Amino acid sequence: MAEDKRDQAVTEAEIAVHWKEEELIYPPTSFIAQANMTDETVLERFGEANFPNCYKEYADLLDWYEYWHTILDESKPPFWKWFVGGKINASYNCVDRHLAKHRNKTAIHFVPEPEDEAIQHMTFQELYVRVNEFAALLRDFCGLKAGDTVTLHMPMTADLAVTMLACARLGVIHSQVFSGFSGKAAADRAVDAKSRVLITGDAYYRAGKLIDHKEKADIAVDEAAKEGQKIEKVLIWQRYPGKYSAATPMVEGRDFIVNDLLKKYRHAIVEPERLPAEGTLFLMYTSGTTGKPKGAQHSIGGYLAYVTGTSKYIQDIHPEDVYWCMADIGWITGHSYIIYGPLALAASSVIYEGVPNYPDAGRPWRVAKELGVNIFHTSPTAIRALRRADPDLPLKYDHNFKHMTTVGEPIEPEVWKWYHKVVGHGKAVIVDTWWQTETGGFLCSTIPGLHPMKAGSCGPGVPGIYPVVFDDEGNVLPRGAGKAGNICIRNPWPGRMLTIWGDDERFVRQYYARYNKDPKSKDWRDWPYFAGDGAVYAADGYFRILGRIDDVINVSGHRLGTKELESAALTVTEVGEAAVVPVPDPIKGRVPHMFVSLKPGYTASKELEQKISDTLAREIGPFAKPGKVWIVPDMPKTRSGKIMRRVLAAIADHKDPGDVMTLANPEVVEAIQKMS
Ligand code: WT7
Repeated sequence: MAEDKRDQAVTEAEIAVHWKEEELIYPPTSFIAQANMTDETVLERFGEANFPNCYKEYADLLDWYEYWHTILDESKPPFWKWFVGGKINASYNCVDRHLAKHRNKTAIHFVPEPEDEAIQHMTFQELYVRVNEFAALLRDFCGLKAGDTVTLHMPMTADLAVTMLACARLGVIHSQVFSGFSGKAAADRAVDAKSRVLITGDAYYRAGKLIDHKEKADIAVDEAAKEGQKIEKVLIWQRYPGKYSAATPMVEGRDFIVNDLLKKYRHAIVEPERLPAEGTLFLMYTSGTTGKPKGAQHSIGGYLAYVTGTSKYIQDIHPEDVYWCMADIGWITGHSYIIYGPLALAASSVIYEGVPNYPDAGRPWRVAKELGVNIFHTSPTAIRALRRADPDLPLKYDHNFKHMTTVGEPIEPEVWKWYHKVVGHGKAVIVDTWWQTETGGFLCSTIPGLHPMKAGSCGPGVPGIYPVVFDDEGNVLPRGAGKAGNICIRNPWPGRMLTIWGDDERFVRQYYARYNKDPKSKDWRDWPYFAGDGAVYAADGYFRILGRIDDVINVSGHRLGTKELESAALTVTEVGEAAVVPVPDPIKGRVPHMFVSLKPGYTASKELEQKISDTLAREIGPFAKPGKVWIVPDMPKTRSGKIMRRVLAAIADHKDPGDVMTLANPEVVEAIQKMS
């Protein structure tokens, strides 16, 4: 494996060398005039000399039942704790505290995918009522209490926000699994989290079709049972309250319609639990370098302070803004920057049910116009797709964005410029925010009212984040070195996950072991956070992120573990060995190609390729379908028996695989090349 990584680092360094510097673009004065952060002293206030006390500024954006006494408990690195002694509730901070000033302001605009269906507007008052009622149901009907876990497998609806905030009110740890994931994937995550309650929806619209989602719940319960986890209750929100929209039948005594149960809890008020700042708010599963997805365990006080602070200063959210992040709430982006950050700031947050280009690529701009969206947030994949659909279309609409975000994968400068000129009509500022599920909130980005933008670069570390780029030996690559290395964060910050759920050892190994020289050290300076991304540090202090350096493939912003994909392929009887490689794709960024060799006695066929592809869609989700399945006579291997993914990736991308004579079986390379 070490061999593979080094090969990849070389390729990335080459990309960096061929890089053209992009010009700086300054934010318009109209933006600066209204921005939350225009004071340059922020850089000094959040500088290393004031660390960790600088983060008091973020904590003070929240309401505390009991104020904390210790800003950072450094006694057990890297298991740092923030705001120790503080008692807080996230639901209170996102809902109750806004009632005094914003009771009748919209908290959530729910936009159904069918355009002839009315948009629903939920005020903070209504959100308060619904969160309380659902919290009462969770407590009294399900017997859930602080510290319990519950798995959610919900589509994009306002009900998902209600569910998360009701859990947070009780201190119940929610674990939302992206609705596009299979029932089996939901089961694996419920097993790991030990959830005995599953909350789901009956159906949702996607690309014009009403999809039966409840069938996945049946699979999830069965699969979880096989792995020893009994799911006792399945709560089902209805897409159309009062009407069951799935074809899959209900299971008597196990499945319950939320809207029926709620009748018993009307007008219930549930006092928010006063929870320790370092308690757990939620789990978010993410792919890693080995097969099993890991649950990033996020805190209450530190996480909420961090996403609120970054929402205010990087997203530039004011209470009067209408904010639309098109990500799915099933990903961390949705947790931090659709629900917790924007609602903590009393913004109006848009939840859109479906795909951006339904029924056509003008939809986002019509929604934006109708709701008065002025802050827009999406991914390079969505931007590329909208651009391909009709590159002039957004110019024909008179939506009015002051601010736009790109997140999830590196954005090509050409695509960035289109976003700026065409979607933003040349007047919106753009932030390219680099971060991860594990980090809770942004790590690198420009401060939109202070820094100029640079296409393709995310910018410097955000306030209070001190990034560094190391080479493989641990030497610092200084600004302007012109070489790619591994980007790390030198310091702790409040948004970082507490640990990997149930696996402290893996947490340390994966994120800290790489550059820690002394495991006994109590000094945070000895514990750089290893993000696993390649990056170049430019002379002007901006970082350009090159993507993952490990075995994770980023497809349309979905982070897929190659091992997860390969494990799924190996469940097909005929498959002997499997290797997945990322192949550049103009729309999706990267698509996985699946290489398999068969067990003896089986032969390749189109049907078998299809079977493998279907298996990946079923086991992981439709977005995991490989761009191509290659059934090869044998895998190219090193003499020590490791599959050479680099060679496979080059062939799939019609590139020269380089010198292959050191392989154990160089002749297969030519055989595979002939297949393309
Ligand atoms: C990986 C994290 C960040 C929330 C959504 C994805 C890549 C993320 C950027 C960006 C270049 C980016 C990285 C990172 N990534 N943002 N602005 N520029 N790459 O969260 O699923 O945990 O994925 O996404 O490779 O490590 P995630």
